[in-house]
Parts: sequence; C-alpha cells; structure tokens
Amino acid sequence: MKKISERIFYVGVNDDDKVMFEGLWPLPLGVSYNSYLVVDQKVALIDTVESGFEEEFIGNVNEAIGDRAIDYLVVNHMEPDHSSLISYMLEMYPSLVILANAKTLPMLKGYHNVPEERVQIVAEAESVSLGGCSLRFYMAPMVHWPETMVTFLEEEGTVFSGDAFGTFGAVDGNPVDDEDTFEIFREEMMRYYACIVGKYGNPVQTALKKLSALDIKRICSTHGPVWERNIQSVVALYDKMSRYEVERGVCIAYASMYGNTAAAADALAMELESLGVPYAIHDLAGNNAGELGLSGALRDVFKYDTIVVGSPTYNNGIFPPAETFMKALQARLIKGRRFYAFGSYTWAGASVRQLNEYAKSMDFELLGDGLSFPQAYRKDKVDMKAVADILK
Ligand code: FEO
Repeated sequence: MKKISERIFYVGVNDDDKVMFEGLWPLPLGVSYNSYLVVDQKVALIDTVESGFEEEFIGNVNEAIGDRAIDYLVVNHMEPDHSSLISYMLEMYPSLVILANAKTLPMLKGYHNVPEERVQIVAEAESVSLGGCSLRFYMAPMVHWPETMVTFLEEEGTVFSGDAFGTFGAVDGNPVDDEDTFEIFREEMMRYYACIVGKYGNPVQTALKKLSALDIKRICSTHGPVWERNIQSVVALYDKMSRYEVERGVCIAYASMYGNTAAAADALAMELESLGVPYAIHDLAGNNAGELGLSGALRDVFKYDTIVVGSPTYNNGIFPPAETFMKALQARLIKGRRFYAFGSYTWAGASVRQLNEYAKSMDFELLGDGLSFPQAYRKDKVDMKAVADILK
C-alpha cells in the first residue's frame, strides 16, 4: 500500500511471475495490476486486481482503511486482469455497491453473476459524491474494451484512466513517478500500447480529446506508474502512437526455419548499421529469454516508418510466424508505412509475393518487388547491401 495523496491510496500489486500477458505477450520486466482507494466520508475502490493476489490485495486495502467498509467499487474495465476479484470483494464487503456503466452490466453478470441490485449504473459525465469529493465518469469505449470508462476525481485533478497510459513493467517502491520514470518505461509503454491497445487508435484519439477538457494533475492507470511529473510526455506518446506517427527507421521482422532467412536479416541489419539508418531487428519465432518476438516487432512498427519482413517459403506460402505478424499489422490497422519483403526458398518461392499482397492490402508503399533467394544465404549471392540502399 502506498499513500498517493490525502484521499488516494495505491492498493495494487506487482506480478513478476506471469510469463505471458494475455497468454501472448512476454513480460521480461513483469507487470502491475493497479487498484486505488479513494477515502472520504465514503470509500470507493477503483478496479481490483488479477486473481491469485487476494491476500496481498486485501492486505493493502486493510492497511489503508483498516476495518472500514468499502461503499463503492468502480469498475472502469472488465478485462479479468482488473475484474477477477469482483466476486471476492462483493463477498468481503456485503454492502458494497458497484458503480459501472450500462455496457458493463452484462459482463458483470457473465463473469461474476453479479445481482443487478448490487450495481448502480452511471452515465456519461454523471457524478457520484463521496461526501467531500466526487467521482465523475466518462465513457472511453474500446480503450480497451467497449465498456471501458475513466473516472475523474475532480477535487484532485486525478483521472483513473483504465488501460490508457498503461505500460508493461512492474512498479517497485513508490508508484508515483520521478523525473526520469517516463524514459525508464517508454519502451515498455510502447510495447504495451502496440500489443494491447494498438488496434484502437481512433478510440484513443476520441478519449484523448475528451480528457483534454479536464484539468489533469495526476494519471492513475491500471498498469505501471502513477503519472504526475511526466503527464505531458505520456499523453504525447499515446497521442503520437494512436495517430500512427513514426520516425524514419526500419523494423526488420523475420522468421526462419534453418537460419538462411535469419542470416539475410542479420546481414541487412549490419548494412543498415553501417549506413547509420536507425533500425530494430526481431525474430518473430524467438522465444529465448529476453527476446520480445512478435511483441517487440509490433512495438517497433509503431516507432519506425519502414517494415521489412523476412520469411522462407513454407508449404507454398508464408512461414506461419511471419504470417501471424502480417495479420497482426492488419488487425492494428497499421497505415502509412514503407514495406520490403525477403526470404529463402528451396524449390519454389512464394513467401515474398504473398507478403507483398498483405502489404498492398494495407496500402503500404512497396519499395520494390522484394528479394527471394534459393537455398542457402551466402553473402556473395544475396545482396543485402542493395536492399539497405533501397531502405535508407
Ligand atoms: Fe489491463 Fe484491458 O486490461
């Protein structure tokens, strides 16, 4: 438990054990599930945490409020990393009432069989008083689910923002940011955005416009630090990513069966290095410790303007990890990128042509037909310097 202000207490937990968030995204630095208490004449809990943390969570709550009852549980977002302990809290606090919007109600029933009499539906811009302060609710659909809303504690300029402005990475010690916290979390915030929220650029833009009307002095997200000193940087980064704005640079994303497409990818990286072109390289099939695989590639698609995909031909098509990446780009509505494909084949090349078809479906600018090479990669037969010259 950490006291954030006279009224606000952080009662979230860190998860350093989970290997894959949503079963998909590696967590080399862990993740936090943030929950907050607002303590006034009435007590409101904002969201809960993932299951498995019951003891630590209730310990945090007890440390903040002792045996006082919780009057309200605000459910900003129903994804189970925040809603898993709803049933548990309803049982622990028999007079607790859930504050949620109409879209949340069927999810509360479906996930937790919550009786309607324990839910108070709130509408856009509606306010609920806690006595000396009040909570106001703003709908933020698709940031990250359709029921998502944010809660504004007007008296403290504090927005409880749900997943918005969240980041991977556990938060050790004081959850409130220092001057350098944004730079420490920047890459993980980008990876979180790209993996989790990246499909919803337009809804994020809509939410940002709505929030811009509020006088925000503190952002309490569901994942990562509490933002006070870095609000401008955090909002600017979310704004930029949700507008799909990028810098000049190359994201090389490849998958390889026997190392030939991988060798070509490495050779391209070295050529870009020697040309001074910013780049990142990710093995889409990589699952060794520290490798970010698909999640790292998606992060860097939100960073750089050029996407280069390497895939061998497999079953007369694209090697599955590379095809998964292309579908992930489609799902995230990635636009305005330059594209190049390469890869090896043994008796008939198909992957490069099919990768180009994916790129065309997203209106990417093709920087050529791509480079399809037979059998082994060798420097004297596969000219990755020529490819680097095209990309620079
Ligand atoms: Fe952290 Fe969409 O839940």
